[in-house]
Amino acid sequence: MGSALRIGVMGAGAIGCYVGGCLAAEGADVVFVGRERTKKELEASGLVLSDLHGNTGRVVSKDRIGVFTKASALADCDVVLCCVKSAQTAEVGAELAEVLAPGTIVASLQNGVRNADVLRESLGKHIVLGGIVGFNVVSKGAGTLRRATSGPLVLERAFDDPRIDALVALLAAARLDPSLVADIRPLQYSKLVMNLNNAAGALSDRPTVELLSVEGYRRILRAVMAEALAVLRAAKIPTGRLGPLPTRMLPFLLGLPAPLFRVLASAQIKIDPSARSSMWEDISKNRPTEVDYLNGEIVRAAAECGARAPLNERIVELVHEAERAQRGSPALSPEALWSALNE
Ligand SMILES: NC(=O)c1ccc[n+]([C@@H]2O[C@H](COP(=O)([O-])OP(=O)(O)OC[C@H]3O[C@@H](n4cnc5c(N)ncnc54)[C@H](OP(=O)(O)O)[C@@H]3O)[C@@H](O)[C@H]2O)c1
Repeated sequence: MGSALRIGVMGAGAIGCYVGGCLAAEGADVVFVGRERTKKELEASGLVLSDLHGNTGRVVSKDRIGVFTKASALADCDVVLCCVKSAQTAEVGAELAEVLAPGTIVASLQNGVRNADVLRESLGKHIVLGGIVGFNVVSKGAGTLRRATSGPLVLERAFDDPRIDALVALLAAARLDPSLVADIRPLQYSKLVMNLNNAAGALSDRPTVELLSVEGYRRILRAVMAEALAVLRAAKIPTGRLGPLPTRMLPFLLGLPAPLFRVLASAQIKIDPSARSSMWEDISKNRPTEVDYLNGEIVRAAAECGARAPLNERIVELVHEAERAQRGSPALSPEALWSALNE
């Protein structure tokens, strides 16, 4: 493909390596910043990317990949994709502020609703765009990554800038289904509501497909999402639509009888059996999770508008208990999870 745009990935993990890798596989100029272990892994194996749509064999060979461990490697980038977990955003924002030229575009490809604002606090001389990765990526080790669900990649069109259009053209050529929206907030809240599933995946140790196929887990997801949507309504925070159905319809979808649910859910999102939330991966690897930025965001919104979110509050507690226990997922059955949520 080739392009004058130099793209940096800050945080070479599942999303950074997948999105950056798809761009690099199409010939874009991409430079990755990650940890020493990732640098070693990518320099030994390169990247091998596949997706549930049957695209296989997208490869970035190890001699074509530039991986560094310091943000200074991104100094001459036109666009930087911020792909770290939410707890690391402030630190990374400060690192980028030290090295990026004023006016560089920094796009947050993170979950949660605050990361772009956190970046803006350090990157006042730069252009920060909110973004949403609507699909799941599973890391299989040795540079092998699989996109395991359908879903768009959305960026905020903060204002007209030819670099934003050039980035979108590269993302489209890399088959990442990009779109630009003037107001990203409602879609960020839609993604937040969908991400409330992540904790159930982490606490149950079930892949997403299994979680959705077991009625007892669907009942939990439905209750947690319905609570969140009621809080957002009370707080006058609108949601949007990240698939054919508006987000406010998701509890209704989850409550349908199984055969009808299967048909309508597959129109909403395609899910590969390998799909697992990144919160599941964090719990399995005994790492801190993003639960405070997902279910915790609903708890905060409730507190701010005088509402309550007891199910989401319990989810936050249960995930923190699992983090503290350092024994991976507690693998709760639907019955055990339901009763833990209602204790
Ligand atoms: N995975 C998905 O399917 C998915 C889908 C949509 C959105 N998201 C969102 O995308 C964001 C990234 O998720 P992810 O799953 O890609 O996370 P990840 O696999 O943990 O990747 C982030 C990587 O960045 C590294 N990192 C953090 N701070 C760094 C620094 N200062 N310098 C160099 N490297 C640094 C991390 O290393 P350490 O682990 O050592 O800190 C980690 O390797 C999250 O907000 C997530 O919610 C994920």
